[in-house]
Amino acid sequence: MAHPASHAHTDAPTHAEPHSHRHDHEQDHSHGHRHGSDGVAEGAMARVLDLDAELFGGYLTAVTGRLAGLAGGGVTHIVDLGAGTGTGTFALLERFPGARVTAVDSSPAMLAGLERTAQAKGLGSRVSTLEADAGSGLPGITGADLVWASASLHHLDDPAAALDGIRAALRPGGLLAVAEMDGMPRFLPDAVVPDRPGLEERCRHALSALHADQVPHLGADWGALLTAAGLTVEAEHTEDLELRAPLPPAAGEYAHLVLGRVRDALDGRLDPADRSALDAVLNGGALDVRHRDDLTVRSTRWTWTARRPTDRP
Ligand SMILES: C[S@@+](CC[C@H](N)C(=O)[O-])C[C@H]1O[C@@H](n2cnc3c(N)ncnc32)[C@H](O)[C@@H]1O
Repeated sequence: MAHPASHAHTDAPTHAEPHSHRHDHEQDHSHGHRHGSDGVAEGAMARVLDLDAELFGGYLTAVTGRLAGLAGGGVTHIVDLGAGTGTGTFALLERFPGARVTAVDSSPAMLAGLERTAQAKGLGSRVSTLEADAGSGLPGITGADLVWASASLHHLDDPAAALDGIRAALRPGGLLAVAEMDGMPRFLPDAVVPDRPGLEERCRHALSALHADQVPHLGADWGALLTAAGLTVEAEHTEDLELRAPLPPAAGEYAHLVLGRVRDALDGRLDPADRSALDAVLNGGALDVRHRDDLTVRSTRWTWTARRPTDRP
């Protein structure tokens, strides 16, 4: 697994990826929305994405600033691929005031929520949505100035094929920015539960094993994949992000949601004592992450920015 060499530290933590991933075939298209436990899981995921943007807005500001520097002027059409609730869409609209965004997602529920937010922010006229499986190209999109793909490409079955579709959707000279993260964020002090030091690291380890099976492109070498797709990588960054006390209340809610999703994803895969320890930080009792003042939020985010060459088809 190769990752960008340049290294930066910032006080702004990063976007977080919920880790009980789902795949497109789990989605119910019958009525344009999902229901039952999948719908609940997707609602929790949406909330995680929004909390992430609330807590880690500084990261998005920094990344979109770098993109503006690389893009130069004249950015009028941006695609947010795997847009989710629109954390990237809204950051990019702010950064590029002359642009409109096409938000692409395979989830109609995510897109419906994003549309509601755009209306509420008075940005409806600058946002359009497209329900599509980005693994099969970006239907109807050509000449895009910038494609933003945050925590989304690793979901696709065949990222190489998807990158061909993205390249075709970009204008010559247009940019693709890929943002990924290194796994679940870290929150807990080592001795969060007496007698179970290392709980969070064991959870991360168990998740990695699960993801190697379920989400094989998580942690892929995106720089190499972008190059293989005929794009020219112009910037790579690794950012180790950390939020420390005093944390806003959103941090406790965020930790609770992420660790709850971790607990669900690892059902039956954890040592029973670790499972009990995880329960203890989630069950509303004295150790609950929503009431603690000793959490930190730490995460690593990688970004790659690549350009479609102007001298080749
Ligand atoms: C972890 S979320 C990231 C959302 C957003 N980019 C962000 O950073 O906040 C991943 C998003 O990708 C979407 N997604 C997953 N597979 C997809 C596919 N094949 N085509 C389009 N979107 C997909 C999911 O529905 C979800 O909204």
